[in-house]
Amino acid sequence: MNYSKMFSLEGKTSVVTGGCGYLGREIVKGFVENGAIVYVLDYNIDNKIEMEDKIAESRIKYIQCDLGNTESIKFCLREAAGEKGKIDSLITMAANLGAGVMTTVEDMDDAYWQKGIDGTIGFTFRTVREAIPYMKNNNATIVNIGSLYAVGAPDPRTYFDTPFNSTPNYGAGKAATVEFTKYCASYLAKYGIRVNSVSPGSFPHENVQENTLFKDRLAYKTMLGRIGYPEDLVGAMIYLSSDASKYVTGINIMVDGGQTAW
Ligand SMILES: NC(=O)c1ccc[n+]([C@@H]2O[C@H](COP(=O)([O-])OP(=O)(O)OC[C@H]3O[C@@H](n4cnc5c(N)ncnc54)[C@H](O)[C@@H]3O)[C@@H](O)[C@H]2O)c1
Repeated sequence: MNYSKMFSLEGKTSVVTGGCGYLGREIVKGFVENGAIVYVLDYNIDNKIEMEDKIAESRIKYIQCDLGNTESIKFCLREAAGEKGKIDSLITMAANLGAGVMTTVEDMDDAYWQKGIDGTIGFTFRTVREAIPYMKNNNATIVNIGSLYAVGAPDPRTYFDTPFNSTPNYGAGKAATVEFTKYCASYLAKYGIRVNSVSPGSFPHENVQENTLFKDRLAYKTMLGRIGYPEDLVGAMIYLSSDASKYVTGINIMVDGGQTAW
């Protein structure tokens, strides 16, 4: 084992769904800087990633994908796998809760519930299922994305008097994603595929950070006393996708500044 290269992703073909999003784009940067070729599967691929390192940037390939549609996923994964028919690492970042209406358990309708469940665990299930044929027997890795709300409930006092809320289908879909990860770790081990999840804590987007009352409340909830920034996630993703974690499968790493530990 060459320990100086144990986190390297050199020569790997990675797929990152939602790679144009707030958190996904930073993961993509981290992966190409570590040597991977990254296929970004996203609905909105106009939002391109710019990097100072142009050689690394040239290893980012964009394929427009609708993760709500199995045929679209099949097409995009086939493109990413290329002639070798091989994908080494998959990161399922994308999520979509639907219309963005912040409804509560008392007034959420069936359609909105279903949209959020499909936009979390549904996206992840379909992508993993379709990726398996390209990942068998090449020491491949899958990292799914949970959330702090996969393991604990949102505190309504954090949201009180702000325009924000966390919907009941979100945490339910993310808890399902963490459990699905363990299921896949168990059943795909026979193909040498390792499957883990990363659960981010509070990583509010820039426009949400402008609400300083809300931002301060989120920060106060953590042991480290601050919100998370996209770069805080990259290390866990690289760890779980590289040889550094070659005996690790079925775990869920909390990247939450300690929020769920007290
Ligand atoms: N930001 C946070 O605080 C936070 C906290 C915990 C977990 N997470 C999770 O991290 C992941 C990324 O979050 P984010 O904040 O970067 O979200 P984001 O909304 O910025 O990015 C999501 C990406 O998914 C893409 N997408 C949506 N629907 C799609 C579809 N049908 N087909 C293909 N692509 C589609 C969007 O175009 C977007 O680029 C999500 O799974 C989210 O639930 C985020």
